[in-house]
Amino acid sequence: MNKIGAGNFDEHQSEFLREILAGLGKRQKEIPSKWFYNETGSSLFEEICELEEYYPTRTEIRILHDNIKHIVDLIKPGTSLIELGSGNGKKIRILLDVLTPPYSYIPVDISHQYLFSSSKELQNNYQDINIVPVHADFTKKFVLPDNELDNSKLIFFPGSSIGNFSPSCAIKFMSHIRKTLGSDCNFLIGIDLKKDIQLLEAAYNDKKGITAKFNSNILLRANNELGANFHVNLFDHKAIWNKSMGRVEMHLISKLNQEVIIKGNKFFFKKGETIHTENSYKYTLDEIKLMVKKAGWHLKKSWIDSEKYFSVNYLT
Ligand code: AVJ
Repeated sequence: MNKIGAGNFDEHQSEFLREILAGLGKRQKEIPSKWFYNETGSSLFEEICELEEYYPTRTEIRILHDNIKHIVDLIKPGTSLIELGSGNGKKIRILLDVLTPPYSYIPVDISHQYLFSSSKELQNNYQDINIVPVHADFTKKFVLPDNELDNSKLIFFPGSSIGNFSPSCAIKFMSHIRKTLGSDCNFLIGIDLKKDIQLLEAAYNDKKGITAKFNSNILLRANNELGANFHVNLFDHKAIWNKSMGRVEMHLISKLNQEVIIKGNKFFFKKGETIHTENSYKYTLDEIKLMVKKAGWHLKKSWIDSEKYFSVNYLT
């Protein structure tokens, strides 16, 4: 395993600095959404997943449960299950509960704490399987443990995390995975579907304000890790459906004219100016088919719930 796979705190932190300086230097200020996920952010995201308004998590879990027989039949014994952005490992349990060993589970996550604590817990619960956590930013090149390279592979990418990529980047990402992981690799991916605007916007503007907290945590993180001086209460949370782009956007709006300093770099915010913190693209089934095809994969099967909120797709 190389040093990216093994994880390196300082490297992550200087990259955070680089990306935040670059992002806030743009005309439309932005901070990449992957920086949400420090320990606090990951745990706030877990709370989001439990919210009444946030339909994706429970819908995807439902789809996995309802179709688990069919899904498991598609997974060969001895497969390495590689989960991108594993978080607390809740969804993989649905597969681990029914698969017959031997096989390996390789969670890949950017949040060090979450990755190792949940891997330990899973290993206690599933003693017959080989669990090999990889601490890495899966949007960059990451390296798999050497002894897993010859196994059949199943990439598990649930939660519509693919929605954080633009459609063209999503295609590049899926195509990159196909090329680097070889021909004996399949892909199980959860993708959120386009739907009524009220439902979409409510999912990102929950009544309890957890999503707002999750959004502004990125500023707290910059304060804690980079010595920035954001006044978090001087920014409001905003999430809207951008129809022409096919995405929900999250922003932090400056409540007044203000200045923020990050390691000697000054940034000015006009009243009402925003920092764009996240895109969450939604697709129709036809768009999914097309995207998958452009990335060189074959869409073998899509499972959806009865309300047509969410899809789980098996690509070969
Ligand atoms: C983890 C990227 C799928 O876009 O729905 C949830 C993140 N942001 N609420 C999503 C998120 C605000 C989530 N993804």
